[in-house]
Formats: sequence, structure tokens, C-alpha cells
Amino acid sequence: MSDTYILGIETSCDETAVAIIKNGREIISNVVASQIDSHKRFGGVVPEIASRHHVEQITLVLEEAFNESGLNWNDIDAIAVTEGPGLVGALLIGVNAAKALAYAKNKPLVGVHHIAGHIYANRLEEEFQFPLLALIVSGGHTELVLMREHGHYEVIGETRDDAAGEAYDKVARMLHLPYPGGPHIDRLAARGEVSIDFPRAWLEEDSFDFSFSGLKSAVINKIHNAKQKGESLKEEDIAASFQASVIDVLATKTVKAAKQYQVKQVIVAGGVAANKGLREELEAKFTETDIPLLIPPLKLCTDNAAMIAAAGTINYQQGKRSGLELNANPSLQL
Ligand code: KG4
Ligand code: ZN
Repeated sequence: MSDTYILGIETSCDETAVAIIKNGREIISNVVASQIDSHKRFGGVVPEIASRHHVEQITLVLEEAFNESGLNWNDIDAIAVTEGPGLVGALLIGVNAAKALAYAKNKPLVGVHHIAGHIYANRLEEEFQFPLLALIVSGGHTELVLMREHGHYEVIGETRDDAAGEAYDKVARMLHLPYPGGPHIDRLAARGEVSIDFPRAWLEEDSFDFSFSGLKSAVINKIHNAKQKGESLKEEDIAASFQASVIDVLATKTVKAAKQYQVKQVIVAGGVAANKGLREELEAKFTETDIPLLIPPLKLCTDNAAMIAAAGTINYQQGKRSGLELNANPSLQL
């Protein structure tokens, strides 16, 4: 069988990214232009600024991805693009670029769900074993997804309010840390003590759902109360105690689900998968089981196009195609 080369495009949030992947598993080139510096001073991603940056960057990033790869358009079998979820104006830049290229170069077009991309980032490291459980933790998502085969996703648990990354970013903001706050909390937490007993939302006994808004409010209240009483709280201890609560719930539910569904592999995906505390806790907990745990290397945890091309390869091989009527869908279901 001949090799399959898929070009991936990702513009759902604040990274403009293009990558080329061979046979769904091998990175040939992977270019990411981050806009974080442009959004930092606003304390979050500004959608209009994101769209404008994507327009400016997309052709440059595409060119660089080809330069890095040593390939040309004749080698490419299909174009995969993130169609959702994400910021609609940002998604549209990638979708329209992909459509224009598919038309001009006469290549099949394949729409990809952003979270499927985060999951498939792991397959760039190791082949999947089914059934597989994926813990997805990002700025917009907190989900436990069961996969019995390639390209099929069953959401068995999800957040009922804030996503894990969102909670990190909101708490970081309270502590006057720069955006995105997750990595800063992670760093502070490593130096702090778990001295504050923040709540853990276990929800119903048999539920794999999550809830982080209560925890976020508890942290905010604790900071306000201390200020009013003139007490000083160490921000390292707030970070460590908050992180302990998030990780406890995430890791405990993931292990429970992995055992209940008798999975052969557990994978972690999304920006919060970069969290050192979470990685350590999951590694410790899964060492006690005989279920292999796979966490992608840091640079594949956050948004990139290699993961979109990797997930797109499966769609392509399963015969899924998108027409030129493909549209950005900010609330696309997995
Ligand atoms: O997957 P991602 O790059 O974008 C989305 O699709 O949302 O995830 C970004 C999120 C942000 O909320 C960021 O604060 C969080 O991932 N994050 C972290 C860490 N690194 C990134 N959260 C906790 N600890 C980290 N080390
Ligand atoms: Zn993402």
C-alpha cells in the first residue's frame, strides 16, 4: 500500500498551524505560529484580533510547512481542517483556506473535530489499543471519551460548567497572573503546600461528569475573606491547594472509568495535559493498575495542526469527505 500524506490546518483559537503527516503517525512538518503575546495584555483571547492574525499568518505558515517537509502538492493526498468547535471567525480562516486549496489543487477535503485532533496527538507517539479511554482537558473542554474503534467517540462524562483549563485561567486571573494562567498556577503549585481544604465536586456516585465552578468560587471567596480580615495567604499555597482539588477529581474519575470500561489504554489530551501535577498523579495512579497510560509530549498537548492531520488521516481512510460547502461550526459535537 502506498503512503498517505495529509496536510492539516488548525485555526480554531489563537494558534495558526499547518502540518504534514505521513500515514497518520509520522510528523513530516509541524509549524505553529502563536498569537499569545497579542492577547496577553487583554487577559484572554480577543476573537477579532485572533481572526486578523490568522489571515496574516496562514499563507506564511503553509509555505513554511511545505519548506520543512521537502514535499510538494503532488505528494499530498488530502487536506484536513478543524471545522469546530472554536471561535467562529478564527475557524473560518482555516476552513476557507482549506477550501480554496482543495479547489485549486484538486484535493479531497476532510473536516476534523478539534477534540478528535487532541486525542489523535497521542497516536503520533504510540499506536492506539481499543477500547481506549481519553481524558480531554483543555481551555474549552473537560471530557472522558470512550473509543471502541478509530474515529468513534462516546462521551461518558463531561463538565457541567467550567472546563478545567478555564478554571485554571480564572483562578490565575484572581492571582494577577498573566494569560494563559494554567502554566503559572502549575509552576506556583510545585512550590506551595496543600494547606487549604478546597471542595471536590464528586457529583452522583455513578457519574463521570465534572464541575469546577464551585471550586473556582471557593478559591475566589477564600482570597476575598483573607483580604477583608487582613490575613495574608501565600499564592503558592492557593495554587497548590486549588490544583490538588482539580487533580484529585480528574485522576480519581479517570481511573474509575478505565476500570469500569476495562479499557486497554488511557490517553490524555488538551492543553491541561501539560500540567506537571496532573501528569505525576495520573502516572502514580495508573502504575498501580495494569492499564497503560499515554500522555503526549508537551508540544503536542497544546493546539497544533499535526494532531488535526493525524485525526484527518483516519477520516480520510474511512472515506469521510467534506464538500466545498463545509462551514465553520463553533459548537460542533464530537
Ligand atoms: O488545548 P488548548 O491549547 O486550547 C484549547 O483548545 O482550549 O488548552 C489551553 C488551556 C488553557 O486554559 C491553559 O491555561 C491550559 O490549557 N494549560 C494548563 C497548562 N498549560 C496549559 N493548565 C494547567 N497546567 C498547565 N501546565
Ligand atoms: Zn485545543
